[in-house]
Amino acid sequence: MRTQVVIIGAGPAGLLLGQLLARAGIETVILERASSEYVLGRVRAGVLEQGAVRLLDEAGAASRLHREGLPHDGFSLAFDGRDHRIDLFGLTGSRVTVYGQTEVTRDLMEARDAIGAVSIYEAANVQPQDFDGENPFVTYEKDGVTHRIDCDFIAGCDGFHGVSRKSVPQDAIREFERVYPFGWLGLLAEVPPVSHELIYANHPRGFALCSMRSATRSRYYVQCTLEDRVEAWSDDRFWDELRRRLPVAHAEALVTGPSFEKSIAPLRSFVAEPMRFGRLFLAGDAAHIVPPTGAKGLNLAASDVHYLSDALREFYTEKSMAGIDAYSARALARVWKAVRFSWSMTTMLHRFPDGGAFGQRIQEAELDYLIHSRAAATALAENYVGLPY
Ligand code: APR
Ligand code: PHB
Repeated sequence: MRTQVVIIGAGPAGLLLGQLLARAGIETVILERASSEYVLGRVRAGVLEQGAVRLLDEAGAASRLHREGLPHDGFSLAFDGRDHRIDLFGLTGSRVTVYGQTEVTRDLMEARDAIGAVSIYEAANVQPQDFDGENPFVTYEKDGVTHRIDCDFIAGCDGFHGVSRKSVPQDAIREFERVYPFGWLGLLAEVPPVSHELIYANHPRGFALCSMRSATRSRYYVQCTLEDRVEAWSDDRFWDELRRRLPVAHAEALVTGPSFEKSIAPLRSFVAEPMRFGRLFLAGDAAHIVPPTGAKGLNLAASDVHYLSDALREFYTEKSMAGIDAYSARALARVWKAVRFSWSMTTMLHRFPDGGAFGQRIQEAELDYLIHSRAAATALAENYVGLPY
């Protein structure tokens, strides 16, 4: 088989890239290790920057998002027993849209099916090959048979544990990492959200976040230890802990109910440089991970895909390598700003086991500065709604 671009991974990055390239008349094949049901079963964050919404529009996958997505003009920072609103729209003229990433993935899969583009799910042992030369190809196994797809380019959109980054010789890649000494325990329940906006809470017992998927479905998180196990957290224990970390008015208004998903995620910041190796590109989680505190994971995947789809379009329509040569530097310039922002939100809001009294006072000073300085609040808001691209 031959195609123009082989995309490894059918997460949001791979699927969005496939749609944007299709719109430019570029043919792709997506190779995904898991089944589509498995991909759609993963629960992830749910806050979209306007740039990501614009790209989903361009991808022809945003009609449900426009119907069901919840526009949010602000969010709340809760500490010292009180709420402090960050007026995103007032400070930046921009807002975010709350819409589950699972739904984004579903919409993109449906859009791809509608144009009849090829996606091969349950493709085993996917291997990008010869990407340092002019004639790359990808091999994979399906139902015990080995296949080969020749192509012009390979897009590694296969997440943090994917094969693409691992296929690059170690001395050609530099990795930067910070692992945080805690995790997030998250719960989904069919209950109305405690507030119409998100609440990020800094509390002596640890961070908490109140988010939502719709007017009737809530997503809540509490900071937990790395040793914590989901089995040790009954729903009741979770709700009690969440209540303790919220200002009294929210704790009293919290509607609880049985969870239908509960899981623990570790927090990490990670960047691989560069994001291009000859004819292999990395995009999304394959190249970088951010802690979920700023909700930047999917949004960064979207900006990578924007730069990459532009570069490939330029190559096919103008026979120019300029965009391709610039891809890694362009993407990384934005990536590092989101990595910095996610790290700083994480550092400001969590309890660090080794933070000590000094760390505590620094957090208090930072939060106090944020709510009293329009400049500081604007900097936070500008990053939260997403830097331009
Ligand atoms: N071969 C084929 N597919 C693979 C392989 C492989 N060896 N390894 C991983 N994959 C697939 C995974 O099964 C997954 O479906 O690649 C996909 C990667 O998707 P994500 O992990 O969702 O990564 P990405 O698309 O970059 O998403 C960016 O969305 O999913 C979130 O946390 C993620 O917020 C981040 C954003
Ligand atoms: C979520 O809704 O899951 C969510 C929202 C905001 C975040 C992280 C996760 O910062």
